[in-house]
Amino acid sequence: MDSNDVQADLKHVLYTKEQIQQRIGELAAQIDKDYEGREILLVGVLKGAVMVMADLARALHSHVSMDWMAVSSYGSGTQSSGVVRILKDLDTDLMGKDVLIVEDIIDSGLTLSWLKTNLESRGTASVEICTAFRKPTAAKVQIDVKYVGYDIPNEFVVGYGLDYAERYRNLDFVGTLAPHVYE
Ligand code: XMP
Ligand code: MG
Repeated sequence: MDSNDVQADLKHVLYTKEQIQQRIGELAAQIDKDYEGREILLVGVLKGAVMVMADLARALHSHVSMDWMAVSSYGSGTQSSGVVRILKDLDTDLMGKDVLIVEDIIDSGLTLSWLKTNLESRGTASVEICTAFRKPTAAKVQIDVKYVGYDIPNEFVVGYGLDYAERYRNLDFVGTLAPHVYE
């Protein structure tokens, strides 16, 4: 039955709100240190990165600006192929900018690998990546991710920006779904 009780759809909590906020704070402190004296352009990847972007941006003390991209990666089913199409491009000229890509999760890493190369080709001073979560599958692609919130098991997770059929993005924690949701 399609009940309206979100909690009933979850199997278990992987990271609580407190754990996520704590880790975002640690990442922000590291980023502030690494970018000392430089302004950062945070590039969020819609829609999943909305929550981590909002929390990370507020935890940073550096000067930041924020811009957004929407991309779709073609592939069979849930597997991303690395062939990426830009649905919404940045409004910002990247020439000479220190760009920090902000992502919710890295799975195959193919989308981010493409995105990093794409942004670097626009004359940036630097492009680094910050992701809230990373799956072990990401190790298959040669991609240097400087800031990782948590390494998680190879399970489908929702919450904190991550969705299943557009639901659960609004949860302030991350968890796995009960089988009744997708069976
Ligand atoms: P790559 O190219 O790294 O793509 O395979 C990463 C994108 O895949 C989606 N993704 C997930 N979304 N729960 C989700 O809600 C998950 O467990 C998950 N794993 C991958 C997500 O859109 C991410 O940006
Ligand atoms: Mg995504």
